[in-house]
Amino acid sequence: MSRENDGSQQGAKVRAVVFDLDGVIVSTDQFHYRAWSRLAEQEGIPFAWEDNDRLRGVSRMESLDILLEKASREYSLREKREMAERKNGYYRQALESELTPRDVLPGVREFMDGLRSAGIKLAVGSSSRNTPMILEKIGLQNYFEAVADGNDIARSKPDPQVFLIAAERLRVAPEECLVIEDAEAGVAAAVAANMRVLAVGAAADDQRADMRARALAEVDWRSLPIRQ
Ligand code: BG6
Ligand code: MG
Repeated sequence: MSRENDGSQQGAKVRAVVFDLDGVIVSTDQFHYRAWSRLAEQEGIPFAWEDNDRLRGVSRMESLDILLEKASREYSLREKREMAERKNGYYRQALESELTPRDVLPGVREFMDGLRSAGIKLAVGSSSRNTPMILEKIGLQNYFEAVADGNDIARSKPDPQVFLIAAERLRVAPEECLVIEDAEAGVAAAVAANMRVLAVGAAADDQRADMRARALAEVDWRSLPIRQ
C-alpha cells in the first residue's frame, strides 16, 4: 500500500470506515455491463467495456446520459426514464439469479472482521439504489452499523452527501471516518466530505487519495490510522 499522508500523524484517528459497495465489497461490473449492453443493442447505440469504466460510481441516470453520448438522436426525459428502468430490470434479474456470498471480493470479510474486532464502526456509502438487494444476496444485510445509499441522496458522488449521511447515522464526525473507494467520483466525494480515503482497484492511481492499493486483499487493516 502506498501512503500520501500518514493518517496517524494527521488529525483525528479513524473511528469508522465507510465502504463503497460496487467494486470494493463486491464486483458488479460485469452485471452492469451486460445490462447496459443489452439496452444499447436494442437502441442501436455502440457500447463497449471501456465505456463501462466511465460509469463507475456514477448514478443510474448519469450513466444513461454517458451511454447516450454515442446515440444518433436525442431522447426525451420520458424515454430516458423508461430506458433506465429497463436496464435496471435486466440488472436486477441477473443479480437475483447469479449473485451469491461467494462474490464478496477476496480478503474483504477478513478486513472487515479485523476492523470490527478493533472496535471500529463500519458503514456502507454507495450510489446504488440496489444496495439493499445486493447486501442481502451476498449475506451482509445485517453486518453494517449504518447504510447510506442511492435511495437516501439527492446528489450523487462526487458530491459528499452519501458519505456525510453514513457518518451521521454512525454518529461519528467526518474527520474520524475513512472511506474505501474504487471510483474517481467516490474519491472526490470522500475528500469533499473531509474524510480520509483509501483508493483501490480502478482508482488505485488517484493522487487525491491518502492511501492507495491495487486491491483491498493487499491491505492489512492494522496499517490503517485507526484508533485502538
Ligand atoms: C454505483 C456503481 O455503485 O452505483 C455505478 O459504481 C452505478 O456503476 C451506480 O451506476 C448506480 O447503481 P444502481 O444500482 O442504482 O443502478
Ligand atoms: Mg464503486
